[in-house]
Amino acid sequence: MTVDAPAPVALPAGPAGLPVIGNLLQMQRHGMLDFYRKLWEDCGDIATASIGPMKFLMVTRPEHIQHVLVKNAHKYTKGLSHDKLRLAIGNGILTLEGDVWSRQRKLMQPTFTPRGIKPFADIMIDETQGLIERWNALPQNAQIDISQEMQRVTMKVISRSMFGLDMDRDFKGASEALVALLEYTSASSTGLIDIPLFVPTPTNRRLKEAKRELRDFLMGIIKKRREEGLQEDLLSMLMTAKDADTGEFMTDEQLHDEALIIFFAGHETTASLLTWTSYLMSNNFVVERKLHRELAEVLGGRGPRLEDIPNLPYTRMVLDEALRLYSPVPIVARDLQEDDELAGYQIPKGTLAVVALYNTHRHPEFWERPLEFYPEHFAPEAVEKRPRYAYAPFGAGPRICIGLHFAQMEAVLILADIAQRFRLRLARPHDGSVRYVGVTRPSTPILMTVEKRLDA
Ligand code: HEM
Repeated sequence: MTVDAPAPVALPAGPAGLPVIGNLLQMQRHGMLDFYRKLWEDCGDIATASIGPMKFLMVTRPEHIQHVLVKNAHKYTKGLSHDKLRLAIGNGILTLEGDVWSRQRKLMQPTFTPRGIKPFADIMIDETQGLIERWNALPQNAQIDISQEMQRVTMKVISRSMFGLDMDRDFKGASEALVALLEYTSASSTGLIDIPLFVPTPTNRRLKEAKRELRDFLMGIIKKRREEGLQEDLLSMLMTAKDADTGEFMTDEQLHDEALIIFFAGHETTASLLTWTSYLMSNNFVVERKLHRELAEVLGGRGPRLEDIPNLPYTRMVLDEALRLYSPVPIVARDLQEDDELAGYQIPKGTLAVVALYNTHRHPEFWERPLEFYPEHFAPEAVEKRPRYAYAPFGAGPRICIGLHFAQMEAVLILADIAQRFRLRLARPHDGSVRYVGVTRPSTPILMTVEKRLDA
């Protein structure tokens, strides 16, 4: 006798919402991250919510993440969930779909392999030196906003790597323009009614202005490069990347969109990682001491080099743990293109799947000390025991972050150098709460003092 599997049931439970607008007010009141955290606490690992007619399906378990991002990536596309981002940053590798995406990914992949990015280590080391000099020159007890400091250094790294120039110096409005794009995408994701871009609201006007400023700047660089010849930067690598099937190169429009996306995706994220690492370390002297010990043994006071990275496993564990607790991209969204079955539920086409990494990364089933800063979570034996998709700060499956080796190399080189020279301490208490604006930022500035390490 065979026992029939239970028939799948409709969508999982979710919190009650208001007629028409559903859970919109709760999302706006709590902010996206807290909303999904509360949803997880109240309804469990898989749950639904809604804004107007749009149904959201939150998933947190590793096997469900694998289902959405890896095994069924063809059904769960970026689709509608990335409309706002497309409007803000155009059609590049982050926002494209299907064959066009696959072509761009193939073209760009070799540039972002561990080998492809090696030439940029020197820029990372050099910019960290610049940061160290600035901090050395600070008066005693001076306070820094750690998030701003990290954004500045990662912006310099990505713009020099991308275009061979320092955007922080040569294009003063760059940072503000990028923030305008980020804020547009995150603010509009919890809006019920889309106000078309041609309506001149202050947000729409700022978005258009920011896009124009960035476009003029980037197109100017592309034109100059075409006239003056290639250099040793990411832009030149992209200009010479040739499609193996068609023999075609990228057009200026494509180069513009890809450059903007690399720039957009490539510095706020790493800045967020370094900000939270500094914050977590300042509260945890045991971790700090262990890190100092490793750095002293491997580097002995000299600056780190590319070849030191494999010899700094604890430094990597510290960063991996900061990425767990404060993932710069804590939510990954997908638009379901056809009816599906997941965890015994029937999920209709058009549902927005929300991979709530923030919850997964704090799930007591997979983490020994879910809410503590405990780099030993990343000791090889601990990693081996954990399901693979219990940790996915760079996403998973075909759309996994293309810049992950770049980010990891940059974060290790910067952290190793500054931790050898300085102790960062909170200048005033901060509770570690976050503001989610497309990336995870501190809710209020984290002000720190920079103490020179006399023991190093
Ligand atoms: C700590 C730093 C970083 C984190 C946590 C991070 C996180 C992510 C995540 C979660 C995704 C997948 C999004 C999705 O599936 O919807 C992604 C995609 C992407 N990231 Fe990163 N990222 C980081 C650094 C970088 C850097 C340095 C670059 C470029 C130099 C970059 C470029 C991209 C691009 C182009 C994509 C889209 C890839 C595709 O769709 O094919 N990221 N990133």
